[in-house]
Amino acid sequence: MSTSRRGFLKGVAGVGAGAAAATGLPGCVPDISPSPLLDMEKDGDGRVRMQVARYPDLSRDGGSVTLRVPGERQLLVVHPSGDTYAVMSSSCTHSGCPLGFEGEEAVCPCHGSRFDLSGQSLNPPAKAPLATVASVYDPGTGVLLIDFKAGDSGFPELVDGKVVFPFTRFPELSSPGGMVQGTPAGHGKLLFVFALEDGTYSAVDSLCTHQFCPVEFQTTELVCPCHDSRFTKTGAVTQGPATVPLQKFTVTSDGTSVTVTIS
Ligand code: FES
Ligand code: FES
Repeated sequence: MSTSRRGFLKGVAGVGAGAAAATGLPGCVPDISPSPLLDMEKDGDGRVRMQVARYPDLSRDGGSVTLRVPGERQLLVVHPSGDTYAVMSSSCTHSGCPLGFEGEEAVCPCHGSRFDLSGQSLNPPAKAPLATVASVYDPGTGVLLIDFKAGDSGFPELVDGKVVFPFTRFPELSSPGGMVQGTPAGHGKLLFVFALEDGTYSAVDSLCTHQFCPVEFQTTELVCPCHDSRFTKTGAVTQGPATVPLQKFTVTSDGTSVTVTIS
């Protein structure tokens, strides 16, 4: 999710070598610090509009900040060069250390994992990708728009707190065992909807309750790629380290469609 870099940080200083020692992992620990903190608020549309020139830690080529927005996970906003920016989760998917940025890669100070601008892990120990957030940089205005509510094209939008799945468009939901997944615009978070084997329905959020990696559906269950927590189609934990169920949403059906109530 590239659109157009670093420093830190009292709160998390010392996570590098200390954490490596604490976990017993071998360690060529990178000499890098987590990116400096920046606190901002969303507007009424669920977006952050950042006038990049106001933030020198981000505006220079190679710059980055750790963005804190109330109600959202902490994000790493990076600026490798020119008009290119990218926005991704700031927590390493190995053990949750806060990331820094170097060159064109997010770098974990703890055990050296690196991630590309699309969040993909480039080297272990982290294997799972970082979640990304949609963003667009406008060179004319110098504004980086971070859209927490962006959705998947062709997937139903959130309207009046509900997402409706007509069977004509989503026949998977018309018979037990079916499933659809996607991100509704206006909600901005991946959603799983299941037609359960007993004829009822379930809809659950995709964020693992351990350290908020996005879960994946595998055959019959939801699996977290970060530390292998497992959840049923109704969000119940069947294997830790997570102990809290996935967030569930109310689902109804009138026989022609399924409606998921988000709020
Ligand atoms: S927390 Fe271990 S590589 Fe990031
Ligand atoms: S984030 Fe650790 S098991 Fe999901």
